[in-house]
Amino acid sequence: ATRKTYRIAVIPGDGIGKETVPEGLRVLDAAARRFGFDLQLAHYDWSCETYRQTGRMMPEDGLDRLRDSDSIFLGAVGWPGVPDHISLWGLLIPIRRGFDQYVNLRPCRLMPGVRTPLAGRGPEDIDFYVVRENTEGEYSSVGGRMFEGTEREFVTQESVFTRQGVDRVLRYAFELAMTRPRRKVTSATKSNGITLTMPYWDERFAAMARNYPEVTTDQYHIDILCAHFVQHPDWFDVVVGSNLFGDILSDLGPAVAGSIGIAPSANINPERRFPSMFEPVHGSAPDIAGKGICNPIGQIWSGAMMLEHLGEKAAADAILGAIEALLAQGGPRTRDMGGQAATVDVGKALAEAVARAG
Ligand code: NAI
Ligand code: MG
Repeated sequence: ATRKTYRIAVIPGDGIGKETVPEGLRVLDAAARRFGFDLQLAHYDWSCETYRQTGRMMPEDGLDRLRDSDSIFLGAVGWPGVPDHISLWGLLIPIRRGFDQYVNLRPCRLMPGVRTPLAGRGPEDIDFYVVRENTEGEYSSVGGRMFEGTEREFVTQESVFTRQGVDRVLRYAFELAMTRPRRKVTSATKSNGITLTMPYWDERFAAMARNYPEVTTDQYHIDILCAHFVQHPDWFDVVVGSNLFGDILSDLGPAVAGSIGIAPSANINPERRFPSMFEPVHGSAPDIAGKGICNPIGQIWSGAMMLEHLGEKAAADAILGAIEALLAQGGPRTRDMGGQAATVDVGKALAEAVARAG
């Protein structure tokens, strides 16, 4: 049999991204050896440092260089001295938009041995996904400002919900639910207050649900839904929301599931016309960067999501199993999780566990 080879574009970025990405690669490499596939890595040093030297976060043909990759494995971007909107709009947003990564996917799962801020909750209570629409909705550039600086000054920004855009993210959520035992999708809405776009979203949600009779559905207005995330995290399986509501939920979800240092995320182009991008939820953490003490688990778990997307489910499961076992059984922990271990200690322990995985 021919071994599969996956082309991975690697962008460590700034700060702790340069420390977490090598550990992510260490574990991916162990998984590739153990499960019999190859990773062909292309490294890109695009970052705020690049910006200082060249005036650009990435070269003009940056997207073209990434286009033929099977996936993009990213650390974090952003560094003091370079405004965040420059690092974000110079690198992350062009990749997400240019490659039509219209699903932002975040697992919210309380791992054994991790402390949640919610009292009395265990791993069986918190295990859901947030599916955020990643290209349209409230984050549009339609609108403007007029009569600037006068009494008549006004500003508008229009939300844009297209049938294609809404349907495709809803379909993704339902398809994801079909792969899970509970088969449940919750929709985030606000059709009581936002009376045009949100009823439309609800209408498309109901229409999509009719294609999936095996899936249970419910919906909540975003305000009470946030409260339910805290009070009843066990209600949720797959939660789908527009760009803005999904943005809020996709920070709240990982927060109720414990440390930001372990939370992974994926920006997915489900049709695979373009590469998808896998990155931890956290940023570049300038306060602890360069010390070798950051938690690499969010990066490593993002690597597992990448392998799952590439079709290497067994390898992805082995990485997740290794993370679970390490956290449950008192393996090395970084400071954010109450331990003393270095970043590399955690990476090495997980790589060894994956190499031994059954
Ligand atoms: P941050 O996530 O970098 O840090 C927030 C807090 O969490 C800090 O105290 C940090 O030390 C801690 N932390 C984060 N990741 C950790 C890890 N793996 N292990 C241990 N502790 C960890 O968020 P912040 O401070 O708001 O942003 C810093 C920079 O990162 C900014 O320039 C921001 O724009 C950028 N950023 C980039 C993101 C991305 O690349 N997708 C996402 C969020 C922020
Ligand atoms: Mg956010």
